[in-house]
Amino acid sequence: MNKITIVGAGRVGESTAQFLAAKNLCREIILLDINEGAARGAALDIQEVAPLFEYDTRVIGSTDHALMVDSELIIITAGLPRKPGMSRSDVLSSNIPIIDSIVDGAMKYAPDAILLFVTNPVDVITYYANLKTGWPRHRVFGQAGVLDSSRMASFIAMETGFSSMDIRTMVLGGHGDTMVPMLRYCTIAGIPVDTFIAEDRLAAIVERTRNGGAEILALRQNSSAYDAPAASVAEMVDAIVHNRNRILPTVCLLDGEYGHSDIAIGVPAVLGHNGVESIIQLDMNEAEQAMFDHSAALVRKDLDVLKSLKP
Ligand code: 2OP
Repeated sequence: MNKITIVGAGRVGESTAQFLAAKNLCREIILLDINEGAARGAALDIQEVAPLFEYDTRVIGSTDHALMVDSELIIITAGLPRKPGMSRSDVLSSNIPIIDSIVDGAMKYAPDAILLFVTNPVDVITYYANLKTGWPRHRVFGQAGVLDSSRMASFIAMETGFSSMDIRTMVLGGHGDTMVPMLRYCTIAGIPVDTFIAEDRLAAIVERTRNGGAEILALRQNSSAYDAPAASVAEMVDAIVHNRNRILPTVCLLDGEYGHSDIAIGVPAVLGHNGVESIIQLDMNEAEQAMFDHSAALVRKDLDVLKSLKP
């Protein structure tokens, strides 16, 4: 890719820029923030890593949305983070106006771009951006499940001592306490995970995964997670840039898939050059479908809040 814009030069935005540059995923990164010093400082800092990590990516920090022009991909990380004790939904009303102005900028300056949302509550924000842009849903989606799945894989690696490289996990549903870890599809070197981990320990891993973001926030107190979220975005961007057709859990606008419409939520998607190339419809068993429906019901509660914000 030639040009990727990252909006939000907070910790997630800055780490994302660093990972994208280090992986040589594009020639130019525009890092936008309402705080000019934060954007320019982060961009310069990352630029000064280039000789050490050997990349050619140019990183430019600015407050000016016009610099989005010709971006092929825009990653939105801007927004208020939650504080300890808050849920992701608690930042919805503060983050919608922020997203509004960013999406306005994207529609004006980069109408052909792919939009990848990270800002929380990501399911609601992704839904909102789909509605606002009216763009095809394959170009407007969000990151959540790659992070949740990576957390779960890490906990399985810690539990078993096996290499995290051999662990495959899949977490679907909303990015909240009701996310849906698909244990049937969790494997270690292709072997079902319950071969190695007893039921009660697996239940504890599922619980820890659901609270993964809150666990880090509670430890740090003044910051949410940013390394793993940024690495998760980089994984999705890598799939898109290299047209890999990777199957990654992605927050997508649904149109009947999994029995739901008019909602954005995490489902397995094929990511390639066009963004979401397709959504994979798995045959869920009764328990999985019930968990998914429950998760969707909670996302819909936030969608009701959203509708009350935007009459
Ligand atoms: C997380 O799960 C902040 O939602 C983000 O860490």
